[in-house]
Amino acid sequence: MEENVKILVVSDDELIHNEVVNAIPEPNKVQIVEPKDVAREIHRDVCDVLIYIQPIAEDAVESIQYIKAISPDTLVIFVAKNTDFLLLRNITKAGVTEFFIYPDEISLLINRLPSMIKAYEVKKNKKEDTVSYLSKGRGQIMSVFSGNGGTGKSVLASSLAQTLKLESTAEVLLIDLNLQFGGMETLLSIESNRSLADLMPVMEELNENHIRNVSQRLESSKLEILLSPCDAEVAESITDAFIAKLLRTSRRSFDFVIVDLPSYLNSNVVTTLEESDRIFYVLTPDTPSLHVLKQFEETALRLGIELKSRTSILFNKASKENEIQEKDMKELLRFPIISSVRWDHKGLQPYVNKGEPVRKEEKEKRLTPFAKDVRKWSLSLLK
Ligand SMILES: Nc1ncnc2c1ncn2[C@@H]1O[C@H](COP(=O)(O)OP(=O)(O)OP(=O)(O)O)[C@@H](O)[C@H]1O
Ligand SMILES: [Mg+2]
Repeated sequence: MEENVKILVVSDDELIHNEVVNAIPEPNKVQIVEPKDVAREIHRDVCDVLIYIQPIAEDAVESIQYIKAISPDTLVIFVAKNTDFLLLRNITKAGVTEFFIYPDEISLLINRLPSMIKAYEVKKNKKEDTVSYLSKGRGQIMSVFSGNGGTGKSVLASSLAQTLKLESTAEVLLIDLNLQFGGMETLLSIESNRSLADLMPVMEELNENHIRNVSQRLESSKLEILLSPCDAEVAESITDAFIAKLLRTSRRSFDFVIVDLPSYLNSNVVTTLEESDRIFYVLTPDTPSLHVLKQFEETALRLGIELKSRTSILFNKASKENEIQEKDMKELLRFPIISSVRWDHKGLQPYVNKGEPVRKEEKEKRLTPFAKDVRKWSLSLLK
């Protein structure tokens, strides 16, 4: 039987711990103890996740050292009441995995807590079908681009983001950089008047909190999405400096930042490509697409965008009926083909027309060929 995660909240501050406890999803067991009783509790029972709220009298550093000595696998999260760098350094040395400053970062903790617990649970139960993705410090920016319109960039970017979120414990953010006309709001039926343009006024001090306040969360996968302003005039006012800042801030808090791009180059798109760790160029099996790819390569060279180390080809709308097959393409390409997605009109169209996400559950009963191929691509990125 799978075990739930046992969570211990160490606190002498009811106001803070009430906020934290409310954010812990069912059916995890939560217990609250006073700082002076924590040593006894650690001996009494297993503790998977310990949330330590900075106490008034007790020595937190010593207490955490003790907890980690008795129970080294416990994940310790610290809530500090002020930015005391010496304390924060010492608690980190003592074995705290993450700390949050109260009150500024409490909403961050509340947002992240469910996925932190989930990641721990996956590790504990060694679930094989969910990849326990542990953050590696800085997240990866992955852009989906193509010089041709209608190749499938948006459906691919959105399905990739949903799949990564559902099949791993990674934090995923999807950004729609089709600034003029958008697209994600229709593809995923999101009604909202918030868009990434709302972050422009706070550009200088932009942080994760701002991003999560503006992003929309998909109910089914809990994927966070930053929508496009869908407004040509607003789009005009978005600068490449803002885009760079947005991407850099996003990668600090998300493991994967998936960017859906339009099919032309302007300074915002160039900046995104330059900031990207990986570029997936969507290629459909036809000669015009190949020509455009060559042109893109030449332009990138002139603009000084380094492609070789980070670009791979995502072959989309593949079908046996195509005159040009993957193997014919291979010889003409300078980049590796990372994955191939089948032409799946029957499977994909109903989702696109209804504005429904392609992936909604971790263990989907029946995956369409399109979703299956995207899954294969996604899992290759989690390795
Ligand atoms: N593998 C596939 N099989 C069948 N249809 C597909 C496939 N991939 C994409 N499509 C269809 O192609 C159309 C265009 O897709 P999408 O809007 O994602 O392309 P795009 O590259 O983002 O376009 P744009 O350049 O306008 O932003 C959609 O109707 C989508 O359903
Ligand atoms: Mg698109």
